[in-house]
Amino acid sequence: MLTLLKNGLVCDGHSITRRDIWYDGWTHAESGRQPDAVADCAGLVIMPGLFDMHTHMRDPGQTHKEDIYSGGEAAAAGGVTGLLAMPNTAPPVDSADAVRYVVTRGERSKTHVYTTCCITKGMAGEEILDFSAMKAAGAVAASDDGRPVADARIMRKSLEKAKAADMPVISHCEDLGLIDGGIMNEGDISRELVVRGMTRLSENIITAREILLAAETGARLHIAHVSTKEAVTLLRAFRPALCNITAETAPHYFSRDLTDRCLLSKDADYRMNPPLRTPADILAITSALCGGVIDAIVTDHAPHSPEEKADFETAPNGVVGLETSLAATLTAFYHTGLLPLENIVRLMCVRPREILGLRDLWGGLCVADLNEEWVVDPNHMRSKSRNTCFKNFTLRGKVKYTFNKGVCVYADN
Ligand code: DOR
Ligand code: ZN
Repeated sequence: MLTLLKNGLVCDGHSITRRDIWYDGWTHAESGRQPDAVADCAGLVIMPGLFDMHTHMRDPGQTHKEDIYSGGEAAAAGGVTGLLAMPNTAPPVDSADAVRYVVTRGERSKTHVYTTCCITKGMAGEEILDFSAMKAAGAVAASDDGRPVADARIMRKSLEKAKAADMPVISHCEDLGLIDGGIMNEGDISRELVVRGMTRLSENIITAREILLAAETGARLHIAHVSTKEAVTLLRAFRPALCNITAETAPHYFSRDLTDRCLLSKDADYRMNPPLRTPADILAITSALCGGVIDAIVTDHAPHSPEEKADFETAPNGVVGLETSLAATLTAFYHTGLLPLENIVRLMCVRPREILGLRDLWGGLCVADLNEEWVVDPNHMRSKSRNTCFKNFTLRGKVKYTFNKGVCVYADN
């Protein structure tokens, strides 16, 4: 099916030009053929579809929270045309068969689904997978996300093996000993609530460890969900000398109104790992994104059911994010004048694909109204889960159409 997108402003991450685009699964500057459909994009911006390199699809095993198809619907509604699925499913993605399951089911999803494999068997932090075999089955990166690889010796060996297989490793930086059962950022608010805190040292120490191990091994290391100002300081210090390290953060770590104070409501929809931190951390993350110290904005989309999220202290960590990431980023960076659209396209569309070595930049299109304001209503989301920390936020910027796999996979109303 050939669609003509007319009158839009096209932003590719380098420049913005007013021109028409023809889309049939591939993007063309012109076509001699008659279009099957015309989309009037006057007043809208056309960009490459977003690539979310940190999504928990929950498939296999926890499909009451999400599955590869509902996750695909949520992705399409968020302008996300490709994503990287995390391996902490049930069972985890620690075999060639499990990798093939995700890739095969992904073919019928509305988004392009790439998958990680685990670093270690069962994410137990002991037996390192055969990364060449995982790569041959279709995995594009290795991660035990949801958990750290606790033992530095195992992590060092994993990085050596991943380097030999030319596979990037994505690290969830957390020292479980220091976390000691904490459920929110450790600080004045956790003390006021008298709940056990997660010390920022937990993230900082493992971030430092991973950077040093990557420096020694030369492996491609990607730091997941950076949330502290100290982790930013570490990246800023080491990155100039090390081209093999990249990093990501998520909108809930830079949105002005999302701090550990939100936990005063005792609502588990504000609980995720790493946790909401402080205004000083938000400032550091913001400046890291503006200064190129952090490469990518991801969602860490982590669906959980309302029943699981009902009790503040025992609920699992995680928030959904596919349907709000572009709007939250435009609100925090574009409408404040901190970043031009080109940079936002690089952070959300271009760099994630580069980090993973993918070549399908224009594999899908996101068409957005940068100025439309809307209120986030969890009941109107496509995801099977509703656990968004942006609920009731007024965000500015709305996805109007998403084109992917040759067709329009989402239209706003
Ligand atoms: O909040 C989180 N939820 N952080 C993680 O690292 C894992 C994720 C999940 O799988 O629910
Ligand atoms: Zn994680």
